[in-house]
Amino acid sequence: MPDDRTDFIVVSNRLPVDRVVDADGATAWKQSPGGLVTALEPVMRAADGAWVGWAGQPDLDLEPFENEGITIVPVPLSERDIELYYEGFSNDTLWPLYHDVIAQPSYHRVWWERYVEVNRRFAERTAEVSAEGATVWVQDYQLQLVPRMLRELRPDLTIGFFNHIPFPAYGIYSQLPWRTQIIEGLLGADVIGFQRAADAGNFTRAIRRLLPYSTRGSIVEVPDGDGTREVVAKAFPISIDAAAFEELAQRPEVVARAAQIRHDLGDPETILLGVDRLDYTKGIGHRLKAYGELLKDSRIDVEDTVLVQVASPSRERVETYRQLRDEIELTVGRLNGDFSTISHQAISYLHHGFPREEMAALYLAADVMLVTALRDGMNLVAKEYVAARKDEDGVLVLSEFAGAADELKAALLINPHDIAGLKDTIMQAVEMPRADRRRRMRSLRKRVRDNDVAHWSRSFLDTLRRARAES
Ligand code: F6P
Repeated sequence: MPDDRTDFIVVSNRLPVDRVVDADGATAWKQSPGGLVTALEPVMRAADGAWVGWAGQPDLDLEPFENEGITIVPVPLSERDIELYYEGFSNDTLWPLYHDVIAQPSYHRVWWERYVEVNRRFAERTAEVSAEGATVWVQDYQLQLVPRMLRELRPDLTIGFFNHIPFPAYGIYSQLPWRTQIIEGLLGADVIGFQRAADAGNFTRAIRRLLPYSTRGSIVEVPDGDGTREVVAKAFPISIDAAAFEELAQRPEVVARAAQIRHDLGDPETILLGVDRLDYTKGIGHRLKAYGELLKDSRIDVEDTVLVQVASPSRERVETYRQLRDEIELTVGRLNGDFSTISHQAISYLHHGFPREEMAALYLAADVMLVTALRDGMNLVAKEYVAARKDEDGVLVLSEFAGAADELKAALLINPHDIAGLKDTIMQAVEMPRADRRRRMRSLRKRVRDNDVAHWSRSFLDTLRRARAES
């Protein structure tokens, strides 16, 4: 047995860093997109563990290496794996299905077969690098079969699973031709975590409909040899490293950059901000519709208001995402054509990812943050905005369909499908008196500070330890 095996291992489809090749052919590592990495990176830095995942490019068979204090264990994916397992089953079957079929999921047996195969590869690689009795924490919908596969390979391991996206109601979940296999795959874990209590409830209800296992509250009795094993399935709302984000947002260069952004935008009275991966779950179209109508109704004026929309590129080879990009960019172009003046743009649209410092500066500059997701596991952008606002200013408009709405009740909560309501709420945010803004932001900040990512990982891992000890 090699002695470089590890006691704590995180497994996720994507590593915290993606390998990128620049125009000159030089390679570098860059932070990968999405909330999963935002949340887990600080946990991993503190834990001295290993991170098993894909490096973001086809056919990279790399040896494990160290990156900023984390041992990185790459799992290779071929072009065909990316097409069938990642773009296909993960992002064109599970993603739309788990987000309440906002887009139509596609069901293809060859995608499923490759999903099984790639999950097995992740399980095998994890089994190789895990020390005797190690704790393995598997992440997200791309790897739902890994817990069971891993348990079969290594019964000595303690296995946790966390689902970063919603888990749908049975009426929707039941469409999935492989619905029972997925549940069996997940039940290989000792603890299965979800973002919201409603997601955990949907999961245990699906078990009751599909399998003869008994459940009481968050406990599921799973047959194991001659006896049973208790699996815990409950909500652990994910968060961010709030103190670190607050510290970043207070650095003089970030504060200066925020002032510069405001100046570069023509010193408007109001900056509205949207920050999303370019994904159809994020409700960017609904937001643009509301904003466009406010301009048309002359309730806001481009001379004193601007919308900054950061839409970071995502899953660009999946057809639904291509179509979405076309639709959003057409709408942005039309609104800018109709309402911009020579000196003032209606929408500043940015199709890039940005470093954390720039994001913090944008949050500081934004008077109103718009989170209008149609369905979202949590939405960590909402929490980052709150953490950045030590000045207790700024208004968060937050969709009730984002997991964050369960906690951030002092935000202005909206139903993004209700365009009239969304327009009125944007106006309420724009016109909100300072005292009201401060009262709401104070309450939001307390919530985000008290329930930060360390609290999330601690409560998950404590539950995991207890569950394993009891079983
Ligand atoms: O939690 C949602 C999620 O799919 C993560 O698993 C992932 O890291 C992030 O969004 C970004 O997605 P992708 O890895 O497909 O670019």
